[in-house]
Amino acid sequence: MATLLAIESSCDETSAAVIRDGCVLSNVVSSQTKLHSEYGGVVPELATREHLRNLTPVIQTAMQKAGVSIGRLDAIAATRGPGLPAALMVGLKAAQGMAFALRKPFIGIHHHEAHLYSPWIMGDPPSADFGNFQPNVSLIVSGGHTLLVLVKNELEHEVLGGTVDDAAGECFDKIAKLIGLPYPGGPELDRLAATGNPKAYDFPRPMLHDPKHEFSFSGLKTSVRYFLQKNPALLNDEQAVRNICASVQAAIVDVLVAKTVRAAQKYQVKCITASGGVTCNSGLRQRLSEVCAKQGYVLRLTEKSLCTDNAAMIGILAEQQFLKGVESTSLDAEIQPTWELASAVS
Ligand code: KG4
Ligand code: ZN
Repeated sequence: MATLLAIESSCDETSAAVIRDGCVLSNVVSSQTKLHSEYGGVVPELATREHLRNLTPVIQTAMQKAGVSIGRLDAIAATRGPGLPAALMVGLKAAQGMAFALRKPFIGIHHHEAHLYSPWIMGDPPSADFGNFQPNVSLIVSGGHTLLVLVKNELEHEVLGGTVDDAAGECFDKIAKLIGLPYPGGPELDRLAATGNPKAYDFPRPMLHDPKHEFSFSGLKTSVRYFLQKNPALLNDEQAVRNICASVQAAIVDVLVAKTVRAAQKYQVKCITASGGVTCNSGLRQRLSEVCAKQGYVLRLTEKSLCTDNAAMIGILAEQQFLKGVESTSLDAEIQPTWELASAVS
């Protein structure tokens, strides 16, 4: 039996979780989205200051909610990268300091590798269900990354491809900004798309037919920008705005779903998983569900509350590593702001 404290601070969420035997005993997330929305995006200096202010109370609340005293911890984990350098530093150094004081191992976690395992955390209270684990093709879609990964086994993965320019979430947010929606635009665009016509406007689906497992979204953003420059009056028409949102969402979802399913076919896996903030998107969830049901794939969509950044997924991966005897991370290990998933050794 192992009890771990996990910390996540790679971007604009300060989070701490306590994990025991695959169960998430607590998962406290303090989101800074409101603070950054005033500036239209994440301001790194503000994010760091908020992490410094919030981390201690977030850890204390996570420990209290879990009913675990600090002396019962077997290991401390934290996100080591990728992410905003100073933001990562706050969580990593706090975790290393605790591990040093408690004389317990420290486990530095790759943020995207943790996302890969979040679809397997489910239920209330949430717990990891690796009993049904299957090799899978995993789509990670967030504000900073779009990745397709072949997960061959627990703790064994191969990166198939990523985005050559903007991430899917970035594309949602930038197009939402062009339309005049508040930051972060993804959820708002999703809400308006629900009552729009996805076939109203035919926006490009970049790299849709390219057999490589790479994505590109900046061309779609540029196309929407030119379209709006040519048709500015549409932005004053509520239904037209809904139709634009639905058409943009359909273009992004088409590309994400087609490329994910093509990778699953190529690597002959029977299971598809998805994680990251954009996995909250209702169009993506619906299309993936429909296509997987039709083509006979098992689909594991991360529960909405765990799609965005959280320490529960950091702790679940750390516990797997701990139980499988993966060597712990040095207390002197530095942050890895540009850590490639392909080079993350479990
Ligand atoms: O994983 P996440 O919380 O943070 C990053 O690591 O980036 O993802 C945030 C991203 C933002 O771009 C946000 O607009 C997008 O996820 N997002 C959505 C939805 N909910 C969050 N995009 C489209 N539809 C949504 N419902
Ligand atoms: Zn993330």
